[in-house]
Amino acid sequence: MAEKVILKIKKKEYELPVVVGSEKEKGIDISKLRGATGGYTTLDYGFKNTGSTTSGITFLNGEQGILRYRGYPIEQLAGKSSFLEVAYLLIYGELPTKAEFESFKNEITKHTLVHEDIRKFLDAYPERTHPMGQLSSMIGSLAAFYPESLDPNRGEDEVNRTIIRLLAKMPTLVSWIHKRHMGHPVIYPNNSLSYVENFMRMFFGFPTEEYDMDPVIVSAMEKLLILHADHEQNCSTATVRIVGSSHAPLYAAISAGISALWGPLHGGANQAVIEMLNQIHHGEGDVNHWVDKAKSKEDPFRLMGFGHRVYKNFDPRANIIKKACDDILKKLKIDDPLLEIAKQLEEVALKDEYFIKRNLYPNVDFYSGIIYKAISFPTEMFTVLFALGRLPGWIAQWKEMMTDKQPIGRPRQVYTGENERKYTAISKRKSKK
Ligand code: ACO
Repeated sequence: MAEKVILKIKKKEYELPVVVGSEKEKGIDISKLRGATGGYTTLDYGFKNTGSTTSGITFLNGEQGILRYRGYPIEQLAGKSSFLEVAYLLIYGELPTKAEFESFKNEITKHTLVHEDIRKFLDAYPERTHPMGQLSSMIGSLAAFYPESLDPNRGEDEVNRTIIRLLAKMPTLVSWIHKRHMGHPVIYPNNSLSYVENFMRMFFGFPTEEYDMDPVIVSAMEKLLILHADHEQNCSTATVRIVGSSHAPLYAAISAGISALWGPLHGGANQAVIEMLNQIHHGEGDVNHWVDKAKSKEDPFRLMGFGHRVYKNFDPRANIIKKACDDILKKLKIDDPLLEIAKQLEEVALKDEYFIKRNLYPNVDFYSGIIYKAISFPTEMFTVLFALGRLPGWIAQWKEMMTDKQPIGRPRQVYTGENERKYTAISKRKSKK
Protein backbone atom coordinates (compact mmCIF):
# COMPACT_ATOMS: atom_id res chain seq x y z
CA MET A 1 0.00 0.00 0.00
CA ALA A 2 1.25 3.49 -0.85
CA GLU A 3 2.68 5.29 2.16
CA LYS A 4 0.84 8.39 3.36
CA VAL A 5 1.75 11.01 5.94
CA ILE A 6 -0.82 12.52 8.25
CA LEU A 7 -0.44 16.17 9.16
CA LYS A 8 -2.53 17.39 12.07
CA ILE A 9 -3.40 21.07 12.35
CA LYS A 10 -5.73 22.14 15.16
CA LYS A 11 -7.31 18.68 15.54
CA LYS A 12 -7.93 18.35 11.78
CA GLU A 13 -5.97 15.71 9.89
CA TYR A 14 -4.67 16.02 6.34
CA GLU A 15 -3.35 13.10 4.35
CA LEU A 16 -0.23 13.87 2.31
CA PRO A 17 1.01 11.50 -0.41
CA VAL A 18 4.62 10.24 -0.28
CA VAL A 19 6.69 10.08 -3.47
CA VAL A 20 9.25 7.26 -3.34
CA GLY A 21 12.35 7.51 -5.55
CA SER A 22 14.19 4.65 -7.25
CA GLU A 23 16.73 4.56 -4.39
CA LYS A 24 13.89 4.52 -1.83
CA GLU A 25 14.27 8.21 -1.02
CA LYS A 26 11.01 9.59 0.30
CA GLY A 27 9.44 12.98 -0.32
CA ILE A 28 6.24 14.24 1.26
CA ASP A 29 4.23 15.90 -1.51
CA ILE A 30 2.94 19.17 -0.08
CA SER A 31 1.90 20.77 -3.38
CA LYS A 32 -1.82 20.75 -2.42
CA LEU A 33 -1.24 21.72 1.23
CA ARG A 34 -2.12 25.39 0.85
CA GLY A 35 -5.50 24.82 -0.76
CA ALA A 36 -6.46 21.96 1.58
CA THR A 37 -5.46 23.72 4.81
CA GLY A 38 -6.70 27.19 3.91
CA GLY A 39 -3.31 28.90 3.62
CA TYR A 40 -0.54 26.90 5.31
CA THR A 41 2.78 26.84 3.52
CA THR A 42 6.10 25.23 4.48
CA LEU A 43 9.14 27.23 5.55
CA ASP A 44 12.69 26.04 4.92
CA TYR A 45 15.39 28.72 4.69
CA GLY A 46 17.98 27.80 2.09
CA PHE A 47 15.86 24.79 1.01
CA LYS A 48 17.77 22.60 3.48
CA ASN A 49 15.20 19.80 3.27
CA THR A 50 13.00 20.79 0.36
CA GLY A 51 12.87 18.74 -2.82
CA SER A 52 12.10 21.03 -5.76
CA THR A 53 11.82 18.26 -8.34
CA THR A 54 12.01 14.57 -9.08
CA SER A 55 15.02 13.85 -11.28
CA GLY A 56 16.56 10.85 -13.01
CA ILE A 57 20.00 12.35 -13.63
CA THR A 58 22.21 12.23 -10.55
CA PHE A 59 21.87 10.18 -7.38
CA LEU A 60 23.64 11.43 -4.30
CA ASN A 61 23.60 9.99 -0.79
CA GLY A 62 25.40 12.45 1.47
CA GLU A 63 25.39 10.17 4.51
CA GLN A 64 27.09 7.30 2.66
CA GLY A 65 29.18 9.43 0.29
CA ILE A 66 27.58 8.02 -2.88
CA LEU A 67 27.50 9.91 -6.19
CA ARG A 68 26.23 8.39 -9.44
CA TYR A 69 25.46 9.91 -12.83
CA ARG A 70 22.54 8.09 -14.49
CA GLY A 71 23.29 5.11 -12.22
CA TYR A 72 27.04 4.91 -12.92
CA PRO A 73 29.28 5.40 -9.84
CA ILE A 74 31.48 8.49 -10.07
CA GLU A 75 34.56 6.38 -9.25
CA GLN A 76 34.03 4.29 -12.42
CA LEU A 77 33.32 7.26 -14.66
CA ALA A 78 36.29 9.27 -13.35
CA GLY A 79 38.56 6.25 -13.80
CA LYS A 80 37.44 5.02 -17.22
CA SER A 81 35.42 7.58 -19.15
CA SER A 82 36.12 10.84 -20.99
CA PHE A 83 34.46 14.16 -20.15
CA LEU A 84 32.67 14.28 -23.50
CA GLU A 85 31.29 10.77 -23.02
CA VAL A 86 30.03 11.76 -19.55
CA ALA A 87 28.47 14.91 -21.05
CA TYR A 88 26.57 12.70 -23.52
CA LEU A 89 25.49 10.37 -20.70
CA LEU A 90 24.16 13.22 -18.57
CA ILE A 91 22.35 15.02 -21.38
CA TYR A 92 20.91 12.06 -23.33
CA GLY A 93 20.55 9.52 -20.50
CA GLU A 94 22.71 6.62 -21.78
CA LEU A 95 26.37 6.00 -22.52
CA PRO A 96 26.82 6.48 -26.28
CA THR A 97 27.62 3.69 -28.72
CA LYS A 98 30.76 4.26 -30.79
CA ALA A 99 28.70 5.61 -33.70
CA GLU A 100 26.63 7.89 -31.43
CA PHE A 101 29.77 9.24 -29.81
CA GLU A 102 31.48 9.92 -33.16
CA SER A 103 28.45 11.80 -34.43
CA PHE A 104 28.20 13.82 -31.16
CA LYS A 105 31.90 14.68 -31.29
CA ASN A 106 31.69 15.69 -34.96
CA GLU A 107 28.71 17.93 -34.29
CA ILE A 108 30.63 19.64 -31.50
CA THR A 109 33.74 20.20 -33.59
CA LYS A 110 31.60 21.93 -36.26
CA HIS A 111 30.62 24.61 -33.73
CA THR A 112 33.81 25.38 -31.79
CA LEU A 113 34.35 28.79 -33.41
CA VAL A 114 32.69 31.81 -31.85
CA HIS A 115 31.53 34.85 -33.80
CA GLU A 116 34.39 37.29 -34.39
CA ASP A 117 32.32 40.11 -32.85
CA ILE A 118 32.60 38.31 -29.50
CA ARG A 119 36.27 39.28 -29.54
CA LYS A 120 35.23 42.95 -29.60
CA PHE A 121 33.24 42.37 -26.39
CA LEU A 122 36.28 40.78 -24.77
CA ASP A 123 38.55 43.63 -25.82
CA ALA A 124 36.22 46.16 -24.18
CA TYR A 125 36.45 44.74 -20.64
CA PRO A 126 38.69 46.52 -18.11
CA GLU A 127 41.87 44.57 -17.47
CA ARG A 128 40.95 43.49 -13.94
CA THR A 129 37.45 42.13 -14.71
CA HIS A 130 36.80 38.81 -12.95
CA PRO A 131 36.56 36.06 -15.60
CA MET A 132 33.35 34.66 -14.09
CA GLY A 133 31.57 37.95 -14.82
CA GLN A 134 32.93 37.86 -18.35
CA LEU A 135 31.93 34.25 -18.91
CA SER A 136 28.41 34.83 -17.65
CA SER A 137 27.99 37.83 -19.99
CA MET A 138 29.59 36.07 -22.95
CA ILE A 139 27.30 33.04 -22.63
CA GLY A 140 24.24 35.30 -22.25
CA SER A 141 25.40 37.28 -25.28
CA LEU A 142 25.48 34.16 -27.46
CA ALA A 143 21.67 34.40 -27.57
CA ALA A 144 22.10 37.61 -29.57
CA PHE A 145 23.98 35.71 -32.28
CA TYR A 146 21.40 32.90 -32.49
CA PRO A 147 17.98 34.64 -32.27
CA GLU A 148 16.26 31.41 -33.35
CA SER A 149 17.33 29.96 -29.97
CA LEU A 150 15.30 32.53 -28.02
CA ASP A 151 12.26 30.26 -27.92
CA PRO A 152 13.25 27.16 -25.93
CA ASN A 153 10.13 25.37 -27.21
CA ARG A 154 11.15 25.64 -30.86
CA GLY A 155 11.56 21.90 -31.32
CA GLU A 156 14.05 19.17 -30.52
CA ASP A 157 16.47 19.92 -33.38
CA GLU A 158 16.79 23.61 -32.54
CA VAL A 159 17.22 22.86 -28.82
CA ASN A 160 19.85 20.28 -29.64
CA ARG A 161 21.71 22.78 -31.82
CA THR A 162 21.84 25.19 -28.87
CA ILE A 163 23.10 22.40 -26.60
CA ILE A 164 25.85 21.50 -29.08
CA ARG A 165 26.79 25.16 -29.54
CA LEU A 166 27.10 25.67 -25.80
CA LEU A 167 29.31 22.60 -25.32
CA ALA A 168 31.42 23.51 -28.37
CA LYS A 169 31.92 27.21 -27.68
CA MET A 170 32.50 27.12 -23.93
CA PRO A 171 36.18 25.95 -24.13
CA THR A 172 36.88 28.56 -26.82
CA LEU A 173 35.31 31.34 -24.74
CA VAL A 174 37.07 30.29 -21.53
CA SER A 175 40.44 30.22 -23.31
CA TRP A 176 39.84 33.54 -25.05
CA ILE A 177 38.90 35.21 -21.75
CA HIS A 178 42.23 34.04 -20.36
CA LYS A 179 44.17 35.16 -23.44
CA ARG A 180 42.65 38.65 -23.31
CA HIS A 181 43.55 38.87 -19.60
CA MET A 182 47.13 38.08 -20.49
CA GLY A 183 47.11 40.50 -23.41
CA HIS A 184 47.99 37.58 -25.70
CA PRO A 185 46.49 36.75 -29.09
CA VAL A 186 43.63 34.26 -28.98
CA ILE A 187 44.17 30.76 -30.37
CA TYR A 188 41.60 29.30 -32.74
CA PRO A 189 40.25 25.76 -32.20
CA ASN A 190 41.97 22.78 -33.79
CA ASN A 191 39.23 20.28 -34.50
CA SER A 192 41.57 17.33 -34.97
CA LEU A 193 42.16 17.33 -31.20
CA SER A 194 39.94 15.87 -28.48
CA TYR A 195 37.66 18.21 -26.52
CA VAL A 196 40.06 18.54 -23.60
CA GLU A 197 43.22 18.66 -25.75
CA ASN A 198 41.70 21.40 -27.87
CA PHE A 199 40.89 23.38 -24.73
CA MET A 200 44.40 22.97 -23.30
CA ARG A 201 45.98 24.13 -26.56
CA MET A 202 43.71 27.18 -26.85
CA PHE A 203 44.36 28.06 -23.20
CA PHE A 204 48.11 27.53 -22.95
CA GLY A 205 49.31 27.52 -26.57
CA PHE A 206 50.79 30.31 -28.70
CA PRO A 207 50.21 30.92 -32.40
CA THR A 208 53.96 31.03 -32.95
CA GLU A 209 54.79 27.56 -31.66
CA GLU A 210 53.54 23.97 -31.48
CA TYR A 211 51.74 23.17 -28.21
CA ASP A 212 53.42 20.33 -26.37
CA MET A 213 50.48 18.20 -25.14
CA ASP A 214 51.17 16.44 -21.84
CA PRO A 215 48.98 13.30 -21.53
CA VAL A 216 49.30 13.39 -17.72
CA ILE A 217 47.76 16.85 -17.62
CA VAL A 218 45.08 16.00 -20.19
CA SER A 219 44.06 12.95 -18.18
CA ALA A 220 43.93 14.96 -14.91
CA MET A 221 41.75 17.57 -16.63
CA GLU A 222 39.37 14.90 -17.98
CA LYS A 223 38.99 13.58 -14.44
CA LEU A 224 38.44 17.01 -12.88
CA LEU A 225 35.81 17.95 -15.44
CA ILE A 226 33.99 14.62 -14.96
CA LEU A 227 33.95 15.09 -11.18
CA HIS A 228 32.35 18.50 -11.58
CA ALA A 229 29.90 17.54 -14.35
CA ASP A 230 26.74 17.33 -12.23
CA HIS A 231 25.68 17.45 -8.61
CA GLU A 232 21.88 17.37 -8.61
CA GLN A 233 20.01 20.36 -7.12
CA ASN A 234 22.89 22.58 -5.93
CA CYS A 235 22.74 26.41 -5.92
CA SER A 236 23.77 26.97 -9.57
CA THR A 237 21.74 24.05 -10.97
CA ALA A 238 18.65 25.14 -9.06
CA THR A 239 19.26 28.61 -10.56
CA VAL A 240 19.48 27.21 -14.09
CA ARG A 241 16.21 25.34 -13.54
CA ILE A 242 14.39 28.32 -12.05
CA VAL A 243 15.50 30.74 -14.79
CA GLY A 244 14.72 28.14 -17.45
CA SER A 245 11.30 27.51 -15.91
CA SER A 246 10.18 30.97 -17.09
CA HIS A 247 11.02 29.74 -20.64
CA ALA A 248 13.89 32.18 -20.92
CA PRO A 249 16.46 31.10 -23.55
CA LEU A 250 18.84 28.29 -22.57
CA TYR A 251 21.80 30.68 -22.97
CA ALA A 252 20.22 32.96 -20.34
CA ALA A 253 19.62 30.06 -17.93
CA ILE A 254 23.26 28.89 -18.24
CA SER A 255 24.51 32.45 -17.83
CA ALA A 256 22.52 32.68 -14.58
CA GLY A 257 23.99 29.35 -13.43
CA ILE A 258 27.50 30.72 -13.99
CA SER A 259 26.66 33.76 -11.84
CA ALA A 260 25.36 31.54 -9.04
CA LEU A 261 28.49 29.38 -9.19
CA TRP A 262 30.74 32.44 -8.80
CA GLY A 263 30.18 32.91 -5.04
CA PRO A 264 32.79 31.60 -2.55
CA LEU A 265 30.20 29.48 -0.72
CA HIS A 266 29.70 27.53 -3.97
CA GLY A 267 32.11 27.17 -6.93
CA GLY A 268 34.14 30.21 -5.97
CA ALA A 269 35.48 28.18 -3.03
CA ASN A 270 38.24 26.67 -5.21
CA GLN A 271 39.76 30.14 -5.72
CA ALA A 272 39.19 31.03 -2.05
CA VAL A 273 40.99 27.85 -0.88
CA ILE A 274 44.18 28.79 -2.73
CA GLU A 275 43.98 32.38 -1.48
CA MET A 276 43.63 31.05 2.08
CA LEU A 277 46.54 28.58 1.69
CA ASN A 278 48.68 31.37 0.21
CA GLN A 279 47.93 33.61 3.18
CA ILE A 280 49.02 30.84 5.55
CA HIS A 281 52.12 30.18 3.44
CA HIS A 282 53.10 33.84 3.45
CA GLY A 283 53.13 33.87 7.20
CA GLU A 284 49.73 35.30 8.06
CA GLY A 285 49.34 32.92 10.98
CA ASP A 286 49.84 29.16 11.18
CA VAL A 287 47.26 26.47 10.47
CA ASN A 288 45.90 26.55 14.06
CA HIS A 289 45.32 30.29 13.85
CA TRP A 290 43.06 29.82 10.79
CA VAL A 291 41.22 26.89 12.35
CA ASP A 292 40.54 29.05 15.44
CA LYS A 293 39.40 31.91 13.24
CA ALA A 294 36.95 29.59 11.45
CA LYS A 295 35.55 28.42 14.80
CA SER A 296 35.03 31.90 16.20
CA LYS A 297 31.40 33.07 16.15
CA GLU A 298 32.58 36.71 16.05
CA ASP A 299 34.66 36.14 12.91
CA PRO A 300 32.78 35.63 9.61
CA PHE A 301 35.74 33.63 8.22
CA ARG A 302 35.09 29.99 7.27
CA LEU A 303 37.60 27.32 6.41
CA MET A 304 37.31 27.39 2.63
CA GLY A 305 36.89 23.98 1.01
CA PHE A 306 35.36 22.54 4.19
CA GLY A 307 31.75 21.55 4.78
CA HIS A 308 28.96 20.71 2.41
CA ARG A 309 25.20 21.06 2.43
CA VAL A 310 24.59 17.40 1.60
CA TYR A 311 27.80 15.48 2.34
CA LYS A 312 27.91 14.88 6.08
CA ASN A 313 30.40 12.01 6.04
CA PHE A 314 32.74 12.45 3.11
CA ASP A 315 32.63 13.94 -0.36
CA PRO A 316 33.45 11.05 -2.74
CA ARG A 317 34.77 13.57 -5.28
CA ALA A 318 37.24 14.90 -2.69
CA ASN A 319 38.59 11.36 -2.12
CA ILE A 320 39.22 10.88 -5.87
CA ILE A 321 40.70 14.36 -6.26
CA LYS A 322 43.00 13.99 -3.26
CA LYS A 323 44.57 10.92 -4.87
CA ALA A 324 44.72 12.57 -8.31
CA CYS A 325 46.37 15.56 -6.69
CA ASP A 326 49.14 13.44 -5.14
CA ASP A 327 49.64 11.60 -8.46
CA ILE A 328 49.87 14.67 -10.64
CA LEU A 329 52.26 16.52 -8.34
CA LYS A 330 54.49 13.44 -8.29
CA LYS A 331 54.32 12.96 -12.06
CA LEU A 332 54.98 16.63 -12.78
CA LYS A 333 57.70 16.60 -10.07
CA ILE A 334 56.10 19.56 -8.36
CA ASP A 335 56.83 20.16 -4.72
CA ASP A 336 54.05 22.52 -3.74
CA PRO A 337 54.23 23.91 -0.19
CA LEU A 338 50.51 24.67 -0.41
CA LEU A 339 49.74 20.95 -0.58
CA GLU A 340 51.67 20.44 2.64
CA ILE A 341 49.71 23.25 4.30
CA ALA A 342 46.45 21.80 2.96
CA LYS A 343 47.32 18.43 4.49
CA GLN A 344 48.17 20.02 7.86
CA LEU A 345 44.94 22.01 7.79
CA GLU A 346 42.95 18.88 7.02
CA GLU A 347 44.67 16.97 9.82
CA VAL A 348 44.09 19.68 12.44
CA ALA A 349 40.48 20.31 11.40
CA LEU A 350 39.51 16.64 11.23
CA LYS A 351 40.66 16.12 14.83
CA ASP A 352 38.98 19.25 16.11
CA GLU A 353 35.79 18.87 18.17
CA TYR A 354 34.12 21.82 16.36
CA PHE A 355 34.54 20.22 12.92
CA ILE A 356 33.76 16.68 14.13
CA LYS A 357 30.52 17.78 15.81
CA ARG A 358 29.32 19.59 12.70
CA ASN A 359 30.44 16.87 10.23
CA LEU A 360 32.68 19.29 8.36
CA TYR A 361 34.99 17.49 5.92
CA PRO A 362 37.08 18.68 2.96
CA ASN A 363 34.92 19.06 -0.14
CA VAL A 364 35.79 18.84 -3.85
CA ASP A 365 37.17 22.39 -3.89
CA PHE A 366 39.76 21.73 -1.21
CA TYR A 367 42.09 19.82 -3.54
CA SER A 368 40.97 20.83 -7.04
CA GLY A 369 42.67 24.22 -6.72
CA ILE A 370 46.04 22.59 -6.02
CA ILE A 371 45.76 20.52 -9.19
CA TYR A 372 44.74 23.55 -11.25
CA LYS A 373 47.70 25.43 -9.78
CA ALA A 374 50.06 22.56 -10.62
CA ILE A 375 48.82 22.71 -14.22
CA SER A 376 49.56 26.50 -14.15
CA PHE A 377 46.01 27.79 -14.41
CA PRO A 378 45.78 31.29 -12.89
CA THR A 379 43.83 31.33 -9.60
CA GLU A 380 41.05 33.61 -10.87
CA MET A 381 40.31 31.06 -13.63
CA PHE A 382 39.60 28.18 -11.20
CA THR A 383 35.87 28.82 -10.89
CA VAL A 384 35.64 29.21 -14.66
CA LEU A 385 37.08 25.68 -14.97
CA PHE A 386 34.37 24.49 -12.58
CA ALA A 387 31.78 26.09 -14.89
CA LEU A 388 33.32 24.32 -17.90
CA GLY A 389 32.91 21.03 -16.06
CA ARG A 390 29.39 21.75 -14.77
CA LEU A 391 27.99 22.80 -18.16
CA PRO A 392 26.68 19.32 -19.21
CA GLY A 393 24.95 18.93 -15.84
CA TRP A 394 23.23 22.30 -16.13
CA ILE A 395 22.11 21.44 -19.68
CA ALA A 396 20.86 17.97 -18.64
CA GLN A 397 18.88 19.40 -15.71
CA TRP A 398 17.36 22.14 -17.88
CA LYS A 399 16.45 19.61 -20.58
CA GLU A 400 14.78 17.30 -18.05
CA MET A 401 12.76 20.17 -16.62
CA MET A 402 11.58 21.29 -20.07
CA THR A 403 10.80 17.74 -21.23
CA ASP A 404 8.80 17.08 -18.05
CA LYS A 405 6.92 20.35 -18.69
CA GLN A 406 7.49 21.49 -15.13
CA PRO A 407 5.72 24.66 -13.95
CA ILE A 408 7.47 27.97 -13.39
CA GLY A 409 9.56 27.99 -10.19
CA ARG A 410 8.00 30.33 -7.68
CA PRO A 411 8.59 29.78 -3.95
CA ARG A 412 6.22 31.07 -1.25
CA GLN A 413 7.15 33.21 1.74
CA VAL A 414 5.84 33.99 5.19
CA TYR A 415 5.46 37.77 5.29
CA THR A 416 6.89 39.40 8.45
CA GLY A 417 6.70 43.10 7.48
CA GLU A 418 4.36 45.93 8.48
CA ASN A 419 0.59 45.44 8.48
CA GLU A 420 -1.51 47.79 6.37
CA ARG A 421 -0.96 51.46 7.23
CA LYS A 422 -1.97 54.83 5.80
CA TYR A 423 0.21 56.97 3.56
CA THR A 424 1.18 60.29 5.19
CA ALA A 425 2.33 63.42 3.38
CA ILE A 426 6.09 64.06 3.58
CA SER A 427 5.53 67.30 5.56
CA LYS A 428 3.80 65.30 8.33
CA ARG A 429 6.28 62.42 8.62
CA LYS A 430 8.33 61.99 11.78
CA SER A 431 11.69 60.26 11.77
CA LYS A 432 11.62 56.81 13.37
CA LYS A 433 15.34 56.84 14.16
N1 ACO B 1 34.27 26.63 8.44
C1 ACO B 1 33.82 26.82 9.71
N2 ACO B 1 32.57 26.53 10.12
C2 ACO B 1 31.72 26.03 9.21
C3 ACO B 1 32.11 25.79 7.87
C4 ACO B 1 33.44 26.11 7.50
N3 ACO B 1 33.86 25.91 6.25
N4 ACO B 1 31.06 25.28 7.18
C5 ACO B 1 30.04 25.20 8.05
N5 ACO B 1 30.43 25.65 9.29
C6 ACO B 1 29.63 25.65 10.52
C7 ACO B 1 28.61 26.77 10.52
O1 ACO B 1 29.12 27.96 11.12
C8 ACO B 1 27.50 26.15 11.34
O2 ACO B 1 27.87 26.20 12.70
P1 ACO B 1 26.72 26.39 13.85
O3 ACO B 1 25.87 25.16 13.76
O4 ACO B 1 27.48 26.52 15.12
O5 ACO B 1 25.98 27.64 13.48
C9 ACO B 1 27.52 24.67 10.94
O6 ACO B 1 28.88 24.42 10.53
C10 ACO B 1 26.59 24.31 9.80
O7 ACO B 1 26.87 25.17 8.70
P2 ACO B 1 25.77 25.79 7.74
O8 ACO B 1 26.28 27.08 7.21
O9 ACO B 1 24.44 25.78 8.43
O10 ACO B 1 25.75 24.69 6.61
P3 ACO B 1 25.22 24.91 5.15
O11 ACO B 1 24.79 23.58 4.68
O12 ACO B 1 24.21 26.01 5.11
O13 ACO B 1 26.51 25.44 4.33
C11 ACO B 1 28.49 25.44 3.03
C12 ACO B 1 27.29 24.62 3.52
C13 ACO B 1 28.00 26.74 2.39
C14 ACO B 1 29.22 24.63 1.98
C15 ACO B 1 29.42 25.75 4.24
O14 ACO B 1 29.90 24.55 4.79
C16 ACO B 1 30.59 26.66 3.87
O15 ACO B 1 30.43 27.89 3.88
N6 ACO B 1 31.79 26.08 3.51
C17 ACO B 1 32.93 26.88 3.08
C18 ACO B 1 32.79 27.26 1.62
C19 ACO B 1 32.95 26.08 0.69
O16 ACO B 1 33.90 25.31 0.78
N7 ACO B 1 32.01 25.98 -0.27
C20 ACO B 1 32.08 24.94 -1.32
C21 ACO B 1 31.00 23.93 -1.13
S1 ACO B 1 31.15 22.67 -2.32
C22 ACO B 1 30.52 23.33 -3.71
O17 ACO B 1 29.65 24.14 -3.73
C23 ACO B 1 31.09 22.90 -4.93
